Amino acid sequence: MSKEAEGADNQSATRWKEEEYFYPAKEFTAQANLNDQAVLAGFSLEKFPDYYAGFADMLTWYKPWQKVFDASDAPLWKWFTGGELNASFNCIDRHLPHLANKTAIHFAPEPEGEKIEHITYQELFVKVNEFAALLRDTAKLKRGDRVAIHMPMVAELPIAMLACARLGLIHTVVFGGFSSSACADRVIDSGSRVLITIDAYYRSGKLIDHKVIDDEACQLAAAGGQKVETMLVWQRFAGKYSSAAPPVAGRDIVVGDELKKYYGARVEPEKMRSEDPLFLMYTSGTTGKPKGCQHGTGGYMAYVTAMSGMILDIHPEDCYWCTADIGWITGHSFIVYGPLALGGSTVIYEGVPTYPDAGRNWRIAQDLGVTIFHTAPTAIRSLRKVGPDEPKKYQFKFKLMATVGEPIEPEVWRWFEREIGKGQAVIVDTYWQTETGGFLCSTVPGIAPMKPGSAGPGVPGIHPAIFDEEGNVLPPGAEKAGNICIRNPWPGCMQTVWGDRDRFVANYFGRYNTKRDSKDWRDWPYMTGDGAIQTADGYFRILGRIDDVINVSGHRLGTKEIESAAMMVPEIAEAAVVAVAHEIKGSEPELYVSLKPGVSPSPEIEKKVADAIVFQIGKIAKCRKIWIVPDMPKTRSGKIMRRVLGAISNKGDVGNTSTLANPEIVTEIQNMVSK
Ligand code: WT7
Repeated sequence: MSKEAEGADNQSATRWKEEEYFYPAKEFTAQANLNDQAVLAGFSLEKFPDYYAGFADMLTWYKPWQKVFDASDAPLWKWFTGGELNASFNCIDRHLPHLANKTAIHFAPEPEGEKIEHITYQELFVKVNEFAALLRDTAKLKRGDRVAIHMPMVAELPIAMLACARLGLIHTVVFGGFSSSACADRVIDSGSRVLITIDAYYRSGKLIDHKVIDDEACQLAAAGGQKVETMLVWQRFAGKYSSAAPPVAGRDIVVGDELKKYYGARVEPEKMRSEDPLFLMYTSGTTGKPKGCQHGTGGYMAYVTAMSGMILDIHPEDCYWCTADIGWITGHSFIVYGPLALGGSTVIYEGVPTYPDAGRNWRIAQDLGVTIFHTAPTAIRSLRKVGPDEPKKYQFKFKLMATVGEPIEPEVWRWFEREIGKGQAVIVDTYWQTETGGFLCSTVPGIAPMKPGSAGPGVPGIHPAIFDEEGNVLPPGAEKAGNICIRNPWPGCMQTVWGDRDRFVANYFGRYNTKRDSKDWRDWPYMTGDGAIQTADGYFRILGRIDDVINVSGHRLGTKEIESAAMMVPEIAEAAVVAVAHEIKGSEPELYVSLKPGVSPSPEIEKKVADAIVFQIGKIAKCRKIWIVPDMPKTRSGKIMRRVLGAISNKGDVGNTSTLANPEIVTEIQNMVSK
């Protein structure tokens, strides 16, 4: 573990008390997709990779695959090679013979006066085909081209994604809340000539003008060398244009008007090779700009389908609601691709969970008869705070609840189990990452007991282990924190970093691979970048990132990203971001900056820095506080000691600072911050 990471977290981990098990209700186990303990034996490491054939069998292939796993280009693994399939066909067409008139997507608009829309599989088929035809004809795209989608939580977002998949186009969805600059970065890196957007959407009771942001994104992208030739603009209200930014002649097409030309159009799904990329999803890393995690078609689809069945226990008769945003990986895998591949009914809610009051979620759950509820600890913390008694007022009954994105405190877990699960729902704490496509650790809900605060063992097929600094595996029950790694490849893992193979290899395998040329997967453990401990029962407790990544409300922000944004303000000499513990969000970024010689601190500079961050990244990266300090605490070699700043911000122990180049600055900053 890096020096920076040897913080209080990992020390205290070993002092946490062991929590007691909770057992799944018999009623749940009886109906669970996976409830036979004997099946788990088939997932032992000796049986890798053959056990993944069963995952691929959950899909419909045009051409059967020949090899489960191909290691010839290690560690860029290939899955189900020789096979051909289409993700859109698997999520839609194949369900039509038996589920055509079943709801695929329930869209709940934020304003409660607006009706919930129920889109059947047949309707989804029609909408995806028509939009795919429009996309193909107007934007002149061919297989493998990238298409950026910058949209909020509306049903047209998965329709756009599935249309891309149908045509063999690689979509790159940019989280709706990201700024024009963040959107432009992704357009440039992915080389997208087409941007799909919407005029406006509701959030916290306000109709937000969204298209105006994407006009700016197009300008920034062009300045960065990537021209957006076509922008397709959906309308939040049919037949009504709700943005102050008018369509740009020659570039923009208002989808609603244009779509009329495609009524009745059908598009044959492209037969994609299993290893052809399906989408890119950008995520924050240790250095520089976000990296494009490239996910493949066959491996990814097989993995998310199997996980949606085994762990989320989705059956076609379930109503499944995941409150994540489709703009993140959770939404891709577990709102769109996994649930739809299983013929499930998936809920999309446009707005914020507490609008207009803390009962909103529970009204949606009650009115739609939601049976599976998937959310994040940060949402649970906030619902517990603003409306602890609210769930009792509504008639809903979940059979399963899932959490994702960050560790959940046992106390919060118990409230969730008691008040929202009403003591009847099974809970899975799913640990994974943008890079991994689907779950790494979780209990199998129909088999294993739950333990508050622990994600559980590796999911069937995944063999995690805790590695120490030297690459030794710490045995279960070692009571020592280390780096959680995955010993075996799995089909859901990203294929590479878009356009940057070296970064992929160095970042995820550089630390523990000793034989660079090896074609043996055993030589390539995948490093997650998280610290964890494993208890004697094999369960993992995740402690958080060991690298320069901050987890805010379950979303990853790179410290470098925030710091680089701050550095764009001319007066700033140095910037350092630290994570501060936050009751609801888990953590929040706090920023320290020092100024160039001759510049004096002022509220204006502070505001400039705050604005630069919101412009470069988005509101999500807003810092709790920006401290303008006379100097940064530094080592003799000039390295900024973020650990010391972090301790100051968290009112913790700064430790021994005598070896710093400027120890006196520590007290000075402490006085400033404690005021
Ligand atoms: C990081 C990945 C995976 C979708 C959402 C976030 C943290 C994720 C858990 C969990 C403890 C968790 C890790 C991980 N994390 N799930 N159940 N318990 N920590 O995806 O933005 O790629 O972030 O989130 O630190 O590395 P992401």
